Amino acid sequence: MSHPSADPRVNAAVARGAGVDVADPACASILEIGCGTGHHLLSLANRWREASCTGLDVSARGIARARLLARRAGMANVRFCEVSVLEFEGEEKGYDFIISHGVFSWVADEVKVGLLDFIGKNLAPGGVAAVSFNVAAGWKARMAVVEKVRAIALAGDTDEVTALEVFLTVAEEGEKEIAADMLAKGAEVLAFDDFAPVMDAWSLGAVVKLAEASGLRWLGDSVFGEKGNDEEDVREGRTFRSELFCRADAEIVERKQPAKGAAFQQRAVPDFPKLDEWRLVCAQEALPLVDTDLKPCVFTFPQLKLLAKMDGTHSAARLAMDAKEIAPELDFVGWLRHVTERGMFE
Ligand SMILES: C[S@@+](CC[C@H](N)C(=O)[O-])C[C@H]1O[C@@H](n2cnc3c(N)ncnc32)[C@H](O)[C@@H]1O
Repeated sequence: MSHPSADPRVNAAVARGAGVDVADPACASILEIGCGTGHHLLSLANRWREASCTGLDVSARGIARARLLARRAGMANVRFCEVSVLEFEGEEKGYDFIISHGVFSWVADEVKVGLLDFIGKNLAPGGVAAVSFNVAAGWKARMAVVEKVRAIALAGDTDEVTALEVFLTVAEEGEKEIAADMLAKGAEVLAFDDFAPVMDAWSLGAVVKLAEASGLRWLGDSVFGEKGNDEEDVREGRTFRSELFCRADAEIVERKQPAKGAAFQQRAVPDFPKLDEWRLVCAQEALPLVDTDLKPCVFTFPQLKLLAKMDGTHSAARLAMDAKEIAPELDFVGWLRHVTERGMFE
């Protein structure tokens, strides 16, 4: 998946607001730790062909798939390494942006420590890192449900989703909502989220303390820059955070006034819609296509079929005819306008 909270363009705006003179992501060095099959990093490498992107993960399957997708999309500015963060030799000049999304809470404590330690040692002087984790405040009640569901699965020798369905029929008030929310995630997400072998939720305070011990300075939320706290998280039952860090010795410059905002970009629907190579691969592989803000857009299979034809050789009028057969329910013109406005086309 792509992760808008770990979008270097957004993270850079937060960092500049906090006085860190961070590099322009368009030509920066970007490292993603725990990149999985590479969807997030590939979307970044596709957006910024001058950026140098590196993804690492211990999963041989994940890295093989990431490499394959990169090859198919013809991306030369991204490389993938099958290695643990505990063993990875970073580049000497460090990285302008480090991303670690959905990793901290899913690894053993020694890897958590090693991860933050690596970031502390491998950020460039003005570099920033976006690190996400599950928050204990909101996960306490969920973990109690997970325990009960695991007990049902064990007793009934069944899988966790079936056990969750059984649990839903006997759940008490408060638990029902959590169980329903879990079911809505689907088996695949649940397997590496709620029911992952390691799913360790921490408090913001504890993560910041560990990061500071690794030579990092906390800048706030990676999207909004605000500095929340544990009490607030408990009050709101917060389950997830993505936080931004720079080096403790990074120079903090006086906050510059932001430039006057550029005019909102109006986009005209193209006569010959053309997705770039990466988005075409996503359409063919039924992966989410990211919009200009890196937000994943989920399409139906008929819509993906139409998107897979959008290589610049078919006119919008021709595609509208195809849509009548492929997706008769679809308001093609309105949909094409929407896709255009989300910045999908070259
Ligand atoms: C929950 S998945 C998240 C994947 C991806 N970042 C995302 O958010 O969609 C956690 C990832 O961390 C990787 N991982 C676990 N331990 C690691 C380690 N020691 N070094 C590098 N990656 C690791 C796993 O293989 C897995 O791909």
